[in-house]
Amino acid sequence: MNKQNEVFYITTPLYYVNSHPHLGHSYSTIVADIINRYKKLFGFQTYFLTGTDEHGQKIVEAANKENKSPKEFADEISNEFKEMWQKLGIEYSQFIRTTDDSHKRIVQSILQKVYDNGEIYFAEYEGLYCVGCERFLDERELVDGNCPEHGTKPTLIKESNYFFKMSKYQDWLIDYINKHNNFIFPEQYRKEILSFLKEPLKDLCISRPKDRLDWGIELPFDKKYVTYVWFDALINYISALGYPDGNLFKEYWKYSHHIIGKDILKAHAVYWPTMLKAIGLEPMRKLAVHGYWNNKSMKMSKSIGNVVNPLELVNIFGVDGLRFLLISEMVFGKDADFRLDSFITSYNAHLANNFGNLVSRVINFTIKNFDCMVPECSELTDIEHVLQEKVTEKIDCIKNALDSFQIHEIVKNFLEISTLTNQYFDKTEPWKLAKNDEQRDRLGSILYTCCDIIRIMNILISPVMPNISLSLAKYLGYDFVKTTELDLNQLPSGQLMSKPESLFPRIEQ
Ligand code: MSP
Repeated sequence: MNKQNEVFYITTPLYYVNSHPHLGHSYSTIVADIINRYKKLFGFQTYFLTGTDEHGQKIVEAANKENKSPKEFADEISNEFKEMWQKLGIEYSQFIRTTDDSHKRIVQSILQKVYDNGEIYFAEYEGLYCVGCERFLDERELVDGNCPEHGTKPTLIKESNYFFKMSKYQDWLIDYINKHNNFIFPEQYRKEILSFLKEPLKDLCISRPKDRLDWGIELPFDKKYVTYVWFDALINYISALGYPDGNLFKEYWKYSHHIIGKDILKAHAVYWPTMLKAIGLEPMRKLAVHGYWNNKSMKMSKSIGNVVNPLELVNIFGVDGLRFLLISEMVFGKDADFRLDSFITSYNAHLANNFGNLVSRVINFTIKNFDCMVPECSELTDIEHVLQEKVTEKIDCIKNALDSFQIHEIVKNFLEISTLTNQYFDKTEPWKLAKNDEQRDRLGSILYTCCDIIRIMNILISPVMPNISLSLAKYLGYDFVKTTELDLNQLPSGQLMSKPESLFPRIEQ
């Protein structure tokens, strides 16, 4: 089962430090963490990068409002993100800040390289700028003259700036996307970018004059300018690995997967691959794009003021419960409306009633009838074979869902295993067999089959619910941390089990 030496690199977007971490940010990071943990479970050598995006106009505006310097302000909010990730069980390999010296140095070296290659020029420019997006918008993107994302009027800016010759890569990019079906995923976003690329691509303005904005990385070839925040921030994905000579870079870049929300698709699917091309690198391997968590049909965002604090949900569902719900309640790639009542309904149905009930009835019944020990498994009959076959199918579905980032499908298949096993328990009626000594072997086989499937389910769900998983492993007397075997009938008989506490207490609406 272990695929030794396969390598995987996953990143989240770098979060702007103008806003406190909320449920939307947490979704990107939890998805990345879960996928990273799955890859590790399946034997991959992985690297998981997250961090904060700290330069640009909107950070300066947010800091000004609080009478703080941009750096002081960025330090505070960046720490909030770190603390939030710790509370949500995120196990990243590195947390990068775009104000890190090493990042700044690499951004400058890349700018110099692109400049020396003649791909950066100076020109007068007039355009419509949205501070929320931190980018110039095309006329055709506007809805009633407003930014479609923020609903605000962009500001007309006329100034001399440096430009990256992005337009020259248009044909190459279209060709690349056409030849690499899964480069941008899900399909709707791939189509969106291909349709955007049907119109002529403009060059990218990559500087800001310091007399208007000085909170940024100075251009190495003109001290009167700082780097445009997106040109700076995107480079994090390679600066964190020590581009160009670092070992991490050599080892991981080829296997890069970026998780992003749909609002930052253009920057990742157009700016970033062309920037990489300009410095002679292959694009990232995959761009996985998710939708929005909405609140009453509006994107949850600081500017709208309708954000949900993940820690309030942790208080209700526990960390593992929240992680589970976030990925089960959103189809990856589509928007989802956050509703506390549906989260509670789903938690009660799937975790308390289905999986929680399975664990509690099987383990308690086994403990009571087999002196706290995992029973021996004698002969298996057709009903077990059918169940086990279905379980094997579901495990395959989970693996496939993971490969295509259909992360919600993982939970769906997991719950189907739970339902099937509950049905098996009901059908075989072990409580009747327990009354008859002659049926003891059969009873043992049934309970063994259930316990073994719970062991497998526990492994399968461990990336989503790492804490619950450790407790459940202990109840089964199983050394889960060392053994990640997904084959059937691997639970050693005779192991000492312990009485489970309620893993998922029901929550009242
Ligand atoms: N700083 C840029 C990204 C630079 S990456 C080199 C940025 N930051 S952000 O803080 O505004 O957003 C970060 C991520 O959070 C984006 O992927 C965005 O889609 C995601 N979310 C913010 N609000 C969201 C929801 N309401 N729902 C789901 N995700 C959303 O953009």
